[in-house]
Amino acid sequence: MKSGSAATVRVELPREARGRGYTITIGPHAIERLPEAIRSLSPSRLHVVTDRNVWRAWGGRLRSVLRGGDFGLTVLPPGERSKSVASAVRIWRDLVRAGCDRRSCVLAFGGGVVGDLAGFAAASFLRGIDFIQVPTTLLAMVDSSVGGKTGIDLPEGKNLVGAFHQPRAVLADIDLLSTLPARQARAGWAEVIKTAAIGDSRLFGVLEEESAWLLAGDAAAIGRAVLACCRVKASVVARDERESGLRRILNFGHTLAHGIEAAAGYRTLHGEAVAAGMAFAAGLGEALGVTLPGATARLLAPIEAFGLRPRPARLSSSRVLAAMEHDKKRGARGLRWVLVREIGRAVVRDDIPWTVSRKAVVWFLAGARA
Ligand SMILES: NC(=O)c1ccc[n+]([C@@H]2O[C@H](COP(=O)([O-])OP(=O)(O)OC[C@H]3O[C@@H](n4cnc5c(N)ncnc54)[C@H](O)[C@@H]3O)[C@@H](O)[C@H]2O)c1
Ligand SMILES: [Zn+2]
Repeated sequence: MKSGSAATVRVELPREARGRGYTITIGPHAIERLPEAIRSLSPSRLHVVTDRNVWRAWGGRLRSVLRGGDFGLTVLPPGERSKSVASAVRIWRDLVRAGCDRRSCVLAFGGGVVGDLAGFAAASFLRGIDFIQVPTTLLAMVDSSVGGKTGIDLPEGKNLVGAFHQPRAVLADIDLLSTLPARQARAGWAEVIKTAAIGDSRLFGVLEEESAWLLAGDAAAIGRAVLACCRVKASVVARDERESGLRRILNFGHTLAHGIEAAAGYRTLHGEAVAAGMAFAAGLGEALGVTLPGATARLLAPIEAFGLRPRPARLSSSRVLAAMEHDKKRGARGLRWVLVREIGRAVVRDDIPWTVSRKAVVWFLAGARA
């Protein structure tokens, strides 16, 4: 991608969902395509959902792109705690008060928290209205804004209430990442490494070679990486929208990550936990003879180059395992591991005995940083 130009990825959905496909536009200034995307839906009203950080940094830009057009606005406190029932209620009520009807459109302007929450509010308001995603974090650009999973958390756990609701358009403007805190950016790179590891060995090669450019914020290089990730995700989602099979490979590194996140009380960022989860899954795969020799070492290199840690901070393994056991009980056949066969190719295994997983997790966490 040349700097200044935008690229697109079309997300086609499975047969039963024909007609709900949409376009992801990626590039510096992609947000300037917003008026066109809105026009094509001709909504009765537009309602923007965002958080305070995003609104402070980019609210002016959004207003100028919309050229003073009239829209409703819900600005939420930043952070995972906003992905709540209370926030969903607030958005629904704001929509009613703003005079929204079934032909109105919600614009999710923020990271994965805003995207999941606003998407869920749109999915459920009047049984479902249109929504557009303008992701503002790297994680949201490469992962959460694409694929139609929306939802909120309950005090009992993350993402326990939600709906599949596909956006009508996604506009990933790389310029918006310039204000993203470095820690958030690093966490986003973990999902990029994940996507390359399960589905794009060429992208993995780019991450190995261009980490310095990417970390320096080179918009054209970042745009190419986002584009490659969206292509992988779009092709997986097109074949398995509802995660009945193939889509599970997107959870590489996530089985242990969920345990780490729960045990760390969500002080760990999701991407940080995923980085450790990938390192663990690669080691487990190698021990089981699934992951080819050398793949683990290759995987660890970009994790470290992007400033992520392949080992989590010291955590109680019994707490991590308790959270994983909780996940295991929720799954139909028990714990599900995504293992890489080699860089670019993943397999899903749900036949690994719990005792084996357990021992491996205890051993891995025992080697954690002090
Ligand atoms: N739906 C899916 O398929 C899917 C996939 C992965 C993750 N998720 C969800 O995504 C969420 C995490 O998303 P996230 O990592 O984007 O977190 P986030 O939305 O909380 O954003 C991280 C922080 O960055 C700030 N921020 C966002 N954009 C900014 C910008 N451009 N400049 C400055 N600050 C900015 C936010 O205010 C927040 O403080 C989790 O709730 C997770 O469950 C969903
Ligand atoms: Zn993730």
